[in-house]
Amino acid sequence: MIVVTGATGHLGKLVVEGLLEKLPADQVVAAVRTPEKAAGLAERGVDVRRADYTDPESLVTAFKDADKVLLISSSEVGQRVAQHQAVIEAAKQAGVGHLVYTSAPKATTSALVLAPEHKATEELIEASGLTATILRNNWYHENYTEVIKQAAQTGTFVGSAGDGRVASATRADYAAAAVAVLTGEGHEGKIYELAGDVAWSYAELAAEIGKAAGREVTYADLPADEHAQALTQAGLPEPVVGLLVALDADTKNGLLAETTADLRTLTGRPSTPIGVTVAELVAD
Ligand SMILES: NC(=O)c1ccc[n+]([C@@H]2O[C@H](COP(=O)([O-])OP(=O)(O)OC[C@H]3O[C@@H](n4cnc5c(N)ncnc54)[C@H](OP(=O)(O)O)[C@@H]3O)[C@@H](O)[C@H]2O)c1
Repeated sequence: MIVVTGATGHLGKLVVEGLLEKLPADQVVAAVRTPEKAAGLAERGVDVRRADYTDPESLVTAFKDADKVLLISSSEVGQRVAQHQAVIEAAKQAGVGHLVYTSAPKATTSALVLAPEHKATEELIEASGLTATILRNNWYHENYTEVIKQAAQTGTFVGSAGDGRVASATRADYAAAAVAVLTGEGHEGKIYELAGDVAWSYAELAAEIGKAAGREVTYADLPADEHAQALTQAGLPEPVVGLLVALDADTKNGLLAETTADLRTLTGRPSTPIGVTVAELVAD
């Protein structure tokens, strides 16, 4: 039995669909915070179980008879270490044979602003003694959805990432890699650095948006304080502004730039080019 946490999230849904292409539905468990949101999966024969990262008992029950558990990192930034710890402890208690975790690029050594919670989680997994596989996912193309759509409308977008590059891929690419690990052999103890085949700069992203939108699109690179000011003026709340500017600084410093072969090796196909996602979003 393969259990997927966060199965009603964007990535989790794609992983469950990928598993259902390879396994009978009764071998797949959707472990979710809100079971009503997974009613469609239950109708298709998927075992939907309540699993709230803040409710340890629900986790132990959800992991009963699980051979493998995919822990999709929580979206509740700042709460994640305690939440993930509860998952790891429950997996141990339930006797899970193999834990798979979605982490961040070079999580244990990177200065990336979002790395510390992933580093702490990887260390907790290591200390637990559980058989594990770490999927260090680089960025999703979809993180830039709003930027792409707005730039297609206005002809410009701002940032502070300079010439920094992003080796992103689609959520579907990362989901396919997770499915390969969950249904394949020989992944125990491995740490995969999953990234797109091509790393692109914001100027190159602007060119792709321009091509898809049939107009000129430019990227205006700003100093970090002016970028923050522009985001604040656009109405974003202060913590979001801080995170976005910090992420652009990380991008500028090359922390998301490394392409690797792990993603395409696991999926058996090239990663989705950013231009394909841009074209889909602009046409949407
Ligand atoms: N690599 C990247 O570029 C990138 C970008 C964004 C996020 N991430 C990370 O990757 C994860 C998956 O991405 P995503 O796009 O699928 O995010 P998402 O759509 O926000 O999904 C997050 C999932 O976490 C679940 N969750 C949150 N708090 C929970 C709790 N207390 N108990 C149980 N489940 C809880 C959510 O449940 P509900 O469905 O009930 O809301 C949801 O299913 C994110 O959570 C985040 O850690 C990575």
